[in-house]
Amino acid sequence: MDTILVTGGAGFIGLHLTRRLLETGYRVICVDYLSNTFDTASAWDRISGLAAHPACTLLVQDIRDQAALQQAMERFKVTAVIHLAALAGVRPSLADPYAYVDANINGTLSVLESMRKAGVKKLLFASSSSVYGNGVSVPFREDDAAVHPVSPYAFTKRAGEMLCSNYNTLYAMDVFCFRFFTVYGPGQRPEMAVSAFLRNIIDENPVTMYGDGRSVRDYTYIGDIVDGLLAALPVVRGYDVFNLGSGRIISLKELLAMIERVTGKKATIKRLPDQPGDVSITFASIHRARARFGYAPATSLEDGIAHMYADLIMKRQTGPFAL
Ligand SMILES: NC(=O)c1ccc[n+]([C@@H]2O[C@H](COP(=O)([O-])OP(=O)(O)OC[C@H]3O[C@@H](n4cnc5c(N)ncnc54)[C@H](O)[C@@H]3O)[C@@H](O)[C@H]2O)c1
Repeated sequence: MDTILVTGGAGFIGLHLTRRLLETGYRVICVDYLSNTFDTASAWDRISGLAAHPACTLLVQDIRDQAALQQAMERFKVTAVIHLAALAGVRPSLADPYAYVDANINGTLSVLESMRKAGVKKLLFASSSSVYGNGVSVPFREDDAAVHPVSPYAFTKRAGEMLCSNYNTLYAMDVFCFRFFTVYGPGQRPEMAVSAFLRNIIDENPVTMYGDGRSVRDYTYIGDIVDGLLAALPVVRGYDVFNLGSGRIISLKELLAMIERVTGKKATIKRLPDQPGDVSITFASIHRARARFGYAPATSLEDGIAHMYADLIMKRQTGPFAL
């Protein structure tokens, strides 16, 4: 049985991924310091539920503790690492860029150094569509130079990719970097658009809309992201970068209208100016991922939102701890 170490395994994407890896028959070592999750108590509950699985081990530690990370890789004979742990989100990175550089760049370096010293050769790294910045032709293609990130967060993700490339060149490590395009689904971080819109509309609170509503995003359902990572895992060779998006776009205004349709409720909109660090469009070309490992996102945005809505309603009735 292959043993996969997942950093950030208690986060939004990490929880879904850990569950699917276990269902697929992998052994999972989940490393998370649990202090940056949006809801530490419920993350702890959900991850300790998964950690009760006989093939799952939860290690509550900081990825920047290089010696501890290396020791875990050696002790559990880890065969591959999926590195998700990071400070996520564009806007807070403007408020505390030092924290982002430390967690995301030093954190990634610690993962790479631990792998080098423990002899682990395969890495899947969570990057972001934000590395493309503004002014790039659409859809975004992986061969764009991506040298003008517009937020400290985006910079740390691009720097992380470059560190990975460095370890491939120097130490023949096999690394695939995945540029995720706005991931949504049950358990999404509450400050993100779909999650915040849904909750506020359900609770009849005002919905904050930044800009004039014409900014455009490629939203990707969590199940499609997890399918993509699982499909790529056996074929990681050399160094490469892949967009994981849906390949479809929608404006903020249209997204709100869709959420109104799904919930059957009208939003009260509070408008605020565009936020510095935000880009005007994200749009993934997904040909490379499709060609290399059969990536085929299948969930329509309306279906994904309906699923998320049903999940939110269910959690309000049964308590927050079901994934
Ligand atoms: N969700 C998205 O739309 C999206 C889009 C692009 C990229 N990404 C990237 O995907 C990854 C996962 O995102 P997410 O939405 O699940 O975020 P999340 O905040 O829900 O999860 C991140 C997890 O990493 C953990 N973590 C952070 N720093 C750590 C450290 N130093 N040591 C140990 N654990 C640490 C946190 O406790 C948290 O559980 C991140 O790297 C993020 O940048 C996410």
